[in-house]
This record gives sequence, C-alpha cells and structure tokens, in this order.
Amino acid sequence: MRKKIIAGNWKMNKNLEEGLALASEVSNMVKDEYQGSAWVVLIPPALHVSGVSKLINGMPKMYAGVQNCSNHKSGAYTGEISADMIKSTGASFVIIGHSERRQYFGEHNDWLARKIDAVLEAGLTPIYCCGETLEEREKNAHFTVLEKQISEGLFHLNEIQMQQVVIAYEPVWAIGTGKTASTAQAQEIHAFIRGLIAKKYNTAVAQEITIQYGGSVKAENAAELFAAPDIDGALVGGAALQSRSFTDIVKAMP
Ligand code: 13P
Repeated sequence: MRKKIIAGNWKMNKNLEEGLALASEVSNMVKDEYQGSAWVVLIPPALHVSGVSKLINGMPKMYAGVQNCSNHKSGAYTGEISADMIKSTGASFVIIGHSERRQYFGEHNDWLARKIDAVLEAGLTPIYCCGETLEEREKNAHFTVLEKQISEGLFHLNEIQMQQVVIAYEPVWAIGTGKTASTAQAQEIHAFIRGLIAKKYNTAVAQEITIQYGGSVKAENAAELFAAPDIDGALVGGAALQSRSFTDIVKAMP
C-alpha cells in the first residue's frame, strides 16, 4: 500500500533555536499522541536541518527534509546546496518546484527535472510540487498546466525512479490564503495526476505514488481531505509552524 506522508514546510521561518524547539515539541507530541501509520516529515530552512535530523534520529516514522537543492553535484556554485550535502545531514526528503520557487526564482519544469535527477541520484526522496494559479483555474487551463508540470518535470524518469517520487498538488490560489481547495476539487486533481502516471507508466506505478495535498491545510479540514481515496497526506505551510496545530493534522491521518 502506498505511503501516507504529512510534511511541514516551514518556508523561511524560525531561527535555529526556535526551529529546534519546534522540532522537539512536534517529535514528542507525535511520539506520545499518534498511533497511525503516516510518516511525518519536518522541512525546516536548510541551515537547521542537521540539528533537526539529529533530534529525530531513531524515531520511527519521523524524517527531515529541505526545501530546495542544486541540480549540480559540487563545484563553483556560490550559495547552492547539493543533494549529497543534504544526504550527509541525515535528511531524507527534498521539496522540488514549490510554487514560490517557480514564481519568485524563475524555476521552470526543465530545470526542475534536473533537480529531481540530482535528488534521486543521492538516494533522497523528492517531493515534486505542482499546481495552477487562480488565473489558470478561472480560464479552465488547470488540467493542461498540471499535465505540463508533471510530464516535463517527471516523465523522463524510468519506472523504478518514478516510484521513488512523492508529488504534492498545491493550487497556488490556496497557499497561505486560508482558502483550501474543496475535498472534491483536490480529489479530482489527484485522480487526474494518478491517471497521467498510469497512462505514461502503468496502473501499478500510479497506485504506488504518494500524492499530497497542500494549501491552507488545517486540523479542521485535514480529516475530510485525508478520507478522499487519492489524497495521501499533506504538505503543510502555516499550520506547521506550531507544534499543536501540526500534530493535530498528523493525527487526522489514520
Ligand atoms: P499553507 O499551508 O500556509 O497554505 O502553505 C502551503 C504550502 O505552500 C506548503 O508547501
């Protein structure tokens, strides 16, 4: 059965001390209160990931990740962080192609495809983000946009590599706006993405892939979203910055 994953993307929030305190609170709460089977992934700013990894080391179901990574292996790329460096901190997941990176840092599908390769080559798990803007949805272009993001970012992978990928559907209009996609809207897109994978690869591969939903996920709407057949977890922003609200989202996953 495919893995359920709840990940907290802290974005550019929390200094080191605050970040370690949050990770410590979340890991204690998850240990004491959560009996479900989902994996929990903490994704702090990259500077903190080695501390966060150490803190959760040995805890079943808990992993650390980062929010971006270079497509290069090493060398003269000032300011960049390689997948091997990330791996050496004990982290396991890397977000690739978050809409904020696409929007503010000009990251395009072809560029992201190379980052996916770098992450997989290092033995890490990419969380590949996709999602349409409000304008694209209003023009009814969302299916086309998503198909392009998925096919250009991922469909160069072989079947084995594809099965290592986690996908996060994050409609841009739902990120940080308090406006969640309805469960029906999210389920429709998740099923569409799974259908694209089945068509390109096969049904077995499509059924193995974890597809998270992201965009104003809160404890109040998590259980309903998680009950949908193709929603396998969440990529949480704002509500992941507080241990109580994040743990309550985790607990909504059986
Ligand atoms: P919010 O949960 O704050 O809407 O952010 C979602 C997100 O972008 C997670 O990557």
